[in-house]
Amino acid sequence: MTCHAPLWAVGLLAAVLPTAGCRSDRGSAGASDAAAAAGGLPCDVAAVLKLRCQGCHAQPPRMNAPMPLLTWDDTQKPGPYDKTALTWQAMRQAIQAGDMPPSESPTGPLAAPEKVILLRWLDASAPRGTVACGPGGGGGTVTP
Ligand code: HEC
Repeated sequence: MTCHAPLWAVGLLAAVLPTAGCRSDRGSAGASDAAAAAGGLPCDVAAVLKLRCQGCHAQPPRMNAPMPLLTWDDTQKPGPYDKTALTWQAMRQAIQAGDMPPSESPTGPLAAPEKVILLRWLDASAPRGTVACGPGGGGGTVTP
């Protein structure tokens, strides 16, 4: 199997784990225990989801949201309505269209930099985070 690590992940791994080799194969179970702190999500993505999405997309979901968005696994499941798309693909569409967060969200709209963080990650096909998150958001960011 070849290493499909995105460039940013290679850079991070090279900086943080010089001897770790190819650890970012997406989807392989237990590929990165270190990422468990953010449920496998890159830390900056996890922080934005927590702030702007998880008020509703919790477990169990609140305010009629159809699914949780707590972990990387949640983003890789079939979409809540269109089962031919994955949840991250539905996220991309909903964010691009300005449908999410809904205008009545108590946790407010996405600030422009937050939207950039999410869309960059979604444009990269929502890769799994590879670095444990520190208390302030730590490493594993999509945007170096
Ligand atoms: C105030 C509560 C609330 C917040 C905050 C919220 N959502 Fe939702 N979300 C909903 C509800 C309710 C639905 C179902 C109705 C709908 O699709 O409009 C939904 C549906 C969705 C869907 C499925 C849409 C589809 O057509 O497949 C996605 C994806 C989604 N939300 C992503 C997000 C993301 C990403 C965020 C944060 C940036 C977010 N939501 C924030 C309440 C919320």
